[in-house]
Amino acid sequence: MNVQTLRDTARELVSPGRGILAADESTGTISKRFDAVGIESTEETRRQYREMLFTTEGIGEYLSGVILYDETLWQNASDGRPLPQVLLDHGIIPGIKVDKSTVGLPLSPEEKFTQGLDGLGERLAEYREMGARFTKWRAVITIGDGIPTKGCVEANARALALYAAFCQDHDLVPIVEPEVLIDGDHSIERCYEATEWMLHTTFQHLYEQNVEFSGMLLKPNMVISGKEAERQAGVEEVARSTVECLRRTVPAAVPGIVFLSGGQTTTQATAHLNAMNSMYEGLPWELSFSYARALQEPPMEIWAGEAGNVEEAQRAFYHRLKMNGAARSGSYSEEMEDEAA
Ligand code: 13P
Repeated sequence: MNVQTLRDTARELVSPGRGILAADESTGTISKRFDAVGIESTEETRRQYREMLFTTEGIGEYLSGVILYDETLWQNASDGRPLPQVLLDHGIIPGIKVDKSTVGLPLSPEEKFTQGLDGLGERLAEYREMGARFTKWRAVITIGDGIPTKGCVEANARALALYAAFCQDHDLVPIVEPEVLIDGDHSIERCYEATEWMLHTTFQHLYEQNVEFSGMLLKPNMVISGKEAERQAGVEEVARSTVECLRRTVPAAVPGIVFLSGGQTTTQATAHLNAMNSMYEGLPWELSFSYARALQEPPMEIWAGEAGNVEEAQRAFYHRLKMNGAARSGSYSEEMEDEAA
């Protein structure tokens, strides 16, 4: 493990004003998203879509990294450049999702367990060869009747920690993603409890696997009301609960926390990140974004699989990046949304 390489990459990924685009939807997930806006999902449409995003002019100003799915790593843009090279040409670091998605947790089927540890070392060596410098693994925690269980929290935290150790062994920065889902009618307090439990357990396992905290990033959910909850916490409450939860669980040596958007609306995701960065000064870690839906929804809907819509879709994508770039320093305001296109 080269600690300096890991630290340099992790710090670059959370450099000021920039964040990460998660464009690593598995074929199943992207097909579901395409379906919702009437785009047929084929290898070629997925390639065209990702080319549209990655060839948007000026994105290197707001993006430090992009997380890819295996299929994309091997695809080329229309001008012949490999898609990872298109990112490098913007000064953006390519990363790769390495988990093999979730299955029902044995004997507790309402909960999920993330697979992918078998053969992980060999896959990482190959990805590193292909130019990836960081990776992602997502664990999913569901809030519901009697869940999460200790069995689920422990099993997923242990897998996350082993994944992170494998990555650092290959000089790849692990993005550790324990996601407590927004689905359900639970309160923000319940989300806080589950998030605190999952993060404590995850860092305990990371410690036991000797993971170097200064060479990793954490990708958590925000502490937020369940999607169907009667009372929806406001922006400042979400910001406060999230930062207080993280302060109690995340070691100061971790260089950055890059949130997932998790089903928030595009502007909510931006406003929440902005509030955290404007309300708190001197936190030990950078607070940034690693959004998929909150960055991709507008451009995907506009593009709709039509070459003629590329420019307008790219404008919408660039706009979301710019808004979240501003949220990195707490300088976003709702009025800035009017600048769109
Ligand atoms: P969302 O921002 O859409 O939650 O996706 C982030 C992610 O990478 C999930 O693994």
